[in-house]
Amino acid sequence: MSAPATALRQGTAQDAERFALVGQATFLESYAGLLPVEDILAHGQRQHAARAYAAWLDDPAWRCWLIEATTGGAPVGFMTVGPSDLPLADHDPADLEIKRLYLLHRFQGLGLGRAMLEQAYAFARERARPRILLGVYSRNEAALSFYAKMGFTQVGDRRFRVGAHEYYDYVLGRAP
Ligand SMILES: CC(C)(COP(=O)(O)OP(=O)(O)OC[C@H]1O[C@@H](n2cnc3c(N)ncnc32)[C@H](O)[C@@H]1OP(=O)(O)O)[C@@H](O)C(=O)NCCC(=O)NCCS
Repeated sequence: MSAPATALRQGTAQDAERFALVGQATFLESYAGLLPVEDILAHGQRQHAARAYAAWLDDPAWRCWLIEATTGGAPVGFMTVGPSDLPLADHDPADLEIKRLYLLHRFQGLGLGRAMLEQAYAFARERARPRILLGVYSRNEAALSFYAKMGFTQVGDRRFRVGAHEYYDYVLGRAP
């Protein structure tokens, strides 16, 4: 079945429930079969709570985007961008970080990931930020291939806690 038409827009303070919904759905879809369900549940309840997204949506240092199905308006993908707290040796408080970038499986491979990244580059240029960073699970081969194609290179690494376990992530970056 081909994917329904979608539209990309900036999130507002009224969208926290939509981000929480698509955040949990895409996290489950991405990591079912890779991570234990207890970790997925704990991560969803804490990191994808509507109140967590509400805080980002209210903060002028952050910008968030939604991709929604044109028919019905259900969210199918999202990206959140804000100040970076990644543990880099050359940490620069001016760096921006893509905290989350996820699409439901049916909406992947259609150019929507690239379209969201272009919003992140434009936001970084608007704020005169030198670098866009992100952390990605070291075993997420598809995302690593995507980011390599989009011009990101490895600039560091980190341990990332999901539920009760820590995972090894690469930190990638590029100029906007
Ligand atoms: C990773 C993700 C955001 C990429 O978005 P997408 O919409 O699927 O990617 P696009 O269609 O915009 O692809 C852009 C380019 O990257 C390439 N690309 C995308 N996925 C790729 C892959 N797995 N391997 C190689 N190239 C890939 C595309 O071929 C395309 O290149 P082209 O324009 O020259 O044809 C999306 O697939 C996703 O949400 N995956 C699951 C969640 C996830 O892992 N998120 C990242 C967490 S850090």
